[in-house]
Order: sequence, then structure tokens, then C-alpha cells
Amino acid sequence: MLAPKKGTREKIKLSKDQVNKSKKLLSYIKPYTLEFAFGWFLLLITTSIGLIFPLILGQLLGSGNAQASNMQDAIHLINTDNISTAAVALFILFGIQAVFSFLKIIVFNDFTERVMRDVRQDSFNRLINKPFSFFHNHTTGELTSRMTSDISQLNETLRFTLGEFFRSTVIVIGGVCFLAVISWKLSLIMLSTVPIMAIAAVVFGKYIKKLAKDAQTETAKSNSVVEEALMGITNVKAFTNEQFLSEKYRVLIENIRLLNLKSGRWRGLFVSFIVLSIFGSIVFVIWQGLLMTQGERPEISSGDFYSFILLTIMIAGSIGSLPEMYSNIQKSIGSTAHLMEIIDEPVEKEIYHGKLQPVINGAIQFKNVHFHYENRPEVTVLNNISFEVRQNQSFALVGSSGAGKSTIAALIQHFYSVNKGSILFGENNINNIDVNHLRRHIAYVPQEVLLFAGTIAENIRFGKTNASEAELIEAAKKANAWDFISSFPEGLNTTVGDRGIQLSGGQKQRIAIARAILKNPAILILDEATSALDSESEKLVQNALNNLMEGRTSIVIAHRLSTVKNADQIIVLDKGEIKEQGTHEDLMNIENGTYQKLIQLQELRS
Ligand SMILES: Nc1ncnc2c1ncn2[C@@H]1O[C@H](COP(=O)(O)OP(=O)(O)OP(=O)(O)O)[C@@H](O)[C@H]1O
Ligand SMILES: [Mg+2]
Repeated sequence: MLAPKKGTREKIKLSKDQVNKSKKLLSYIKPYTLEFAFGWFLLLITTSIGLIFPLILGQLLGSGNAQASNMQDAIHLINTDNISTAAVALFILFGIQAVFSFLKIIVFNDFTERVMRDVRQDSFNRLINKPFSFFHNHTTGELTSRMTSDISQLNETLRFTLGEFFRSTVIVIGGVCFLAVISWKLSLIMLSTVPIMAIAAVVFGKYIKKLAKDAQTETAKSNSVVEEALMGITNVKAFTNEQFLSEKYRVLIENIRLLNLKSGRWRGLFVSFIVLSIFGSIVFVIWQGLLMTQGERPEISSGDFYSFILLTIMIAGSIGSLPEMYSNIQKSIGSTAHLMEIIDEPVEKEIYHGKLQPVINGAIQFKNVHFHYENRPEVTVLNNISFEVRQNQSFALVGSSGAGKSTIAALIQHFYSVNKGSILFGENNINNIDVNHLRRHIAYVPQEVLLFAGTIAENIRFGKTNASEAELIEAAKKANAWDFISSFPEGLNTTVGDRGIQLSGGQKQRIAIARAILKNPAILILDEATSALDSESEKLVQNALNNLMEGRTSIVIAHRLSTVKNADQIIVLDKGEIKEQGTHEDLMNIENGTYQKLIQLQELRS
């Protein structure tokens, strides 16, 4: 009977680290301790009633028989000689059981939903506050799976499995104690199947767990294929990769099927084995028990015999459900550990300790900045970069692809910390400035504009969440976006589709520019899209940009000649190093200069 428990201890020891990590869940439970305790109190009552029930029912069944009952001492409040009394007692017991079971479910449900709400909210809060490096180390698929399936697993366990596991365990232990009181001899007979089940449970359980884990890993893989296909649906179609992906998916899900088939077979075998041994033992016990009620001086009364059998069946049922519940709890421990691991990774506030909230007027200075990405430490991305941007200056960064231009934009926003050197805003080192304060004064129009599924209004409002409609329209006008927005029947309330696929590239850019205009930042960073726009939209976008750049510091990663020419200062970047620096005229005068060549190339193209 204790077999699965032994296995439990062993397995928990094996994953001590996981158990420790999942202990953090306690901090989410703590605010609701009272409710939780009440739930367990109700559980204890319903479980106890569950245990008493077979005793009384047994006495009722055997009450035609006048023999003395060993259990009468235990339940002396009820006169079991009287059939009606026992029956009434049973009805009352069921009535109490019904009320308490109802309450128990309500309380556990309420408790779980509160805890889950907190866990969800906290995970999401921490997730979106993680630094960029975190998102490089975890795929979107992995993170969504943590946020969805791991949390549901936990939900199920808190709401149901944990309580049921406890109930079954109490029934097994308490039941065995009652059995021993009724007849230790019969109990020993009944317990004689334990060693077989113990070994089976441990060996089988381990193997089944491994199989289930394999299937889980494969499932995660197949989920990420679905997600990536959906995210890159344009590419999938453009490259007619449907067939390829379909095949890739087929292989993965077939694998899942086979793994689950295998695991199912073993689980089935496991259950059959246990059922067989348990039913075998029940028949054996009934047989032996009946023998004991016979004869001149029977060893047990027939009431006790019935109680014994009913208890045995109940214990057997509980044992049968223990492995499944146990494996669920284990899964939950794994899921919780995974989730907590993610939650525990530091958020930006815990990495960037800057507290200063200085005036950000747009003056920026890079001093001998060295940088490499954490996940690729051997590749130096920026090597000894120094430059100074004055307030309200326009500053252009040009250079070949991969030179490190977008990286500089990222560093200015403190998406990453420099490895060597420093970045100053006015007098203050970036490391001393509150990261959110800093970002509030910077607007960033990224290389690839990604809009959120929702309306145009919602997307522009992202720049200033409390903006009025008039402000939205004004920003849209300045961004040269109003014409196309007002041409849509639904205007600002036009939905843009997932990631903005219902808009053209130039339109998306202008919405991003409107967003930046609305934010009205001291510093504007513009990572121009490399994709060439037609000259009409280019002019629209360029005008919008000119509007946007007015009266603030702008850093433009430029691909367009027109943007570069007018910049107050141009830096030519090559393989993470500054090659040339100056105005358009300065740079054009450098013999055989990199800038000169870049410009010539562009003129050739257009
Ligand atoms: N998250 C990242 N992890 C590791 N390496 C990265 C990461 N992002 C960029 N890199 C590398 O850093 C280098 C500079 O990249 P960056 O995006 O700054 O180039 P870029 O000048 O903006 O190029 P483009 O003109 O193509 O946009 C490249 O070699 C790139 O492979
Ligand atoms: Mg770039």
C-alpha cells in the first residue's frame, strides 16, 4: 500500500532543484493562506466521512447478524443493531458530505483562481520587463508554452490533484489502520501483495515518466513550428514552403503519436498489472475473510467483515488513482520549476540600477564604447566607438549591413549595457539613469515596423496612451498618414490585422512615425528600412520625418541619400569601427573614402 509513497520520495529527491524552485509558489499562496487552510479543513472532513462511510455501511449490511462487533467500540455512538439507526446515520453522513464537498470545491476553486490570477499577472509583468538578452535565450514558442500550458498544469494541480492526492493517501493510510483494528490477521493477508506493487510502481513509474517527458519535448517542438509558420506566413507563402513545413510538421506529430502510443501502452500495462494484483488480492481477502466468519467461534463478525471488504475496495481504488495523480503532481512541480525559473530571471530594474531622472535634453556622448552580444561573446560588434551628438542636432549613421548601426540605436535606449567605455546623456552616465525615464524621452522608429493587432488609433496611441483623438489626428497629419487613414471607411478605427499585415510598408512606417510624433521625445532614433520605397511614398515618408526631426536630437540610421545629405553630422561605420566622420561635404572630399563609394553606389542604383 505504501509503494507509491516510497516511489514519491525517491523521485522528489531526484529533482530536488525543481522542488526548491517550485517552492517559490508558496509566496503566491501566502496571501490566501486562510482560504487555503479552510479548504484543507473541509477536505479533511470530507475525507474522514469518506473513511467512516464503509465502516457504517458494513455494519448495516452485517447487522442482521447478532455477533459482537470489534468496531462497535469505535463507533459506539451508533447502535448498529438497529438497522434504521445505521441507515439514518448514513443519510445524515451523506447529507453532511454533500454540503462539505460542495463547499470544498467552491473554496478550492476560488483559492486556485486567485493564485492563478496572481501567477499569470506576475509572470506577464516580469516577462515584458526582461532585458533583450533574455529574449535571445528563449524562443517565443517556449515562453508562450510556459505562460499557457505550464500555468494550466499548475491550475489543475492546485484546484484538484493536490487535494485528491491527499484524500487518497489519507484513505490508504487511515483505511489500513482501520483494517488492522478490525482484524490484523486479515490485514496481513491483504497487505501481502504490497511488495509486488511496490516494485512495479517504482520501475513502471520511472519508465512512464521518461516516455511522457519525451513526448512533451516533441510537442513543444511541433508547437514552435506552428507558431513560426504563423508568424512568418508571408515568407511561407512567398517561398511556397507550405509543403515543406507541412512535411516537417507531419514528421514531428507522427513522432509525438508514436511516443504517446508507446507511453500509453506502458501506462495501460501498468494499470492492468495493478488492477490484476488488486482484484486478485480482493478476491483472496474475501475468501479468507469469509472463512474467518465461519465456525463455532468466528474470528470476526459479519458486520466487521463487510466493513473490511468495503474499506479494502475503497483503499484499492485510492491506490489505483495514486500513480496518475502523483505523476500529475510531478509534472506540476516540473512546470512550476520551469515557470519560476523564467519568472526569477532578473528583470531590467534588477540589472540596471540607475535611479537618476535627469533632464534629457538630447545631448549624447559615446566614449570608447566596446560591445559584443552576450550570446556571441567572441564577435566584437562595436570597437572603441566615440562620438558626440549635440542637442537638436541631426546625426546620421551609415555603413554596410551588419556594421553595428542598429546596435548603436539599441545601446542608446539601454537595451543592452556596454562592455567597456561609457555612454553619457548630458553629464550623466547611462548606467546611473533610470531606464524607463530614459526611454520615455526617446522615440524609436525601428527598421522593421511591427504594428499590434488592433486599430490604427490604438497603434498610434502606443506613443502616448492617454492621447485625445484630436492629438491622434494631428500626429497622423504630421506623419503624412492622415490622407490614407481618412481614405479608409473606418478611418482611425481601421484594424491593421496581425502585426499590421493589412497595411503597406510605407503606411506602416508612417504610422510608426505618427506614434513617435505623439510621444514628442527629446531624442528620436530612426532605423530606416532598407527596403526602397517608391519615390512617391519616399517623399511622403521623408516629409513626415522632417516634421518629426524638427526641434529635437535625431539619430538616423540612413539608407536614403536625402536623409544623409542634410544631417549635421555623419558617421561611417564599418565592422563596428568608425571609418569616417563629418558633414556630407567633408566626407565627399575624402579621396577614395568609404562614404564617397556608398553614395556613388546609391546614385547608380537610383
Ligand atoms: N541579438 C543579437 N545577438 C548576436 N549578434 C547580433 C544580434 N543582433 C545583431 N547581431 C550582430 O551584430 C552585428 C551588428 O548588427 P546590427 O544589427 O547592428 O547591424 P546593422 O548595421 O544595423 O545592419 P543592417 O544595415 O543590416 O541593419 C552583426 O554582425 C549581427 O550579426
Ligand atoms: Mg540594422
